Amino acid sequence: MKREFGRTLNDLKQTAMAKIEEMKAIVMASEDGGKGEANDLTLPGVNYELGSRHPVSIVRQEIVDIFRKFGYDVAEGPEIEDDWHVFEALNFPPNHPARDMQDTFFVSSGHPNPLLLRTHTSSIQVRTMEHQKPPIRVICPGRVFRNEAISARAHCIFHQVEGLYIDEKVTFADLKQAILLFAREMFGADAKIRMRPSYFPFTEPSSEVDVSCNICHGKGCNICKGTGWLEILGCGMVDPNVLEACGIDSKKYSGFAFGMGIERIAMLKWQVNDLRHYFENDLRFLHEFEAATEV
Ligand code: DAH
Repeated sequence: MKREFGRTLNDLKQTAMAKIEEMKAIVMASEDGGKGEANDLTLPGVNYELGSRHPVSIVRQEIVDIFRKFGYDVAEGPEIEDDWHVFEALNFPPNHPARDMQDTFFVSSGHPNPLLLRTHTSSIQVRTMEHQKPPIRVICPGRVFRNEAISARAHCIFHQVEGLYIDEKVTFADLKQAILLFAREMFGADAKIRMRPSYFPFTEPSSEVDVSCNICHGKGCNICKGTGWLEILGCGMVDPNVLEACGIDSKKYSGFAFGMGIERIAMLKWQVNDLRHYFENDLRFLHEFEAATEV
């Protein structure tokens, strides 16, 4: 044992000596013959700074990874959309307030199907249903635009993730289960959800979902404003009118959809209370996410 160890150590010494001699020969052969003027080995090294991922990218990836595990594919769509995919096919009545000029950036007007910047990623569920036959299981991340004054709580650009599941006999219980599993993956195994009735033109029934506050665990704190709950997303059963508008037989198929704001989830995850931080690219803010960046 001792002998073997000695021999290995000796081999290592020989290798190291040979390496040193080799390096010496290289230095002596250099321009200044090893006087050290050309190669100042005392100079500090060059520091390569590592970048970090943007918090919105980190959370988007996390959401996508969670739903990928449940068997969802990722779908994308154009940011410049038409009225049909953003409103009409999603069962927005002709004079619905969400079509109002105040909310939507129009690219062209006067046309029967004007071009506009999408106000939500629900447009991708329309595109998916138009091109794919059920069963459909997709998650659609993307950037959306609204004509809003910029403040701590609102911005004209933000990001959403839309989810869509269409098959035979899909029920509200399936929706609840999918959201609960997501909440547990995102906010911890002890996360609870509650559903409140709501309204969206493209789902019936519709619901808003709260998750138990991950800071105070439901006791009540200033993040959840003492309620113990935080709103995370909107969802519901896809309205039969939407299925039919996209060429899917609503007698045979049913499904659920949900949509959430990425910045909103990121704000809850890291307690960032001003939306503007996400878009100003202040390095002091971005450096905060180095630890959360997977290399
Ligand atoms: N599109 C909605 C919004 O931008 C979010 C949403 C709510 C999407 C309910 C859905 C849903 O798919 O079922 O506010």
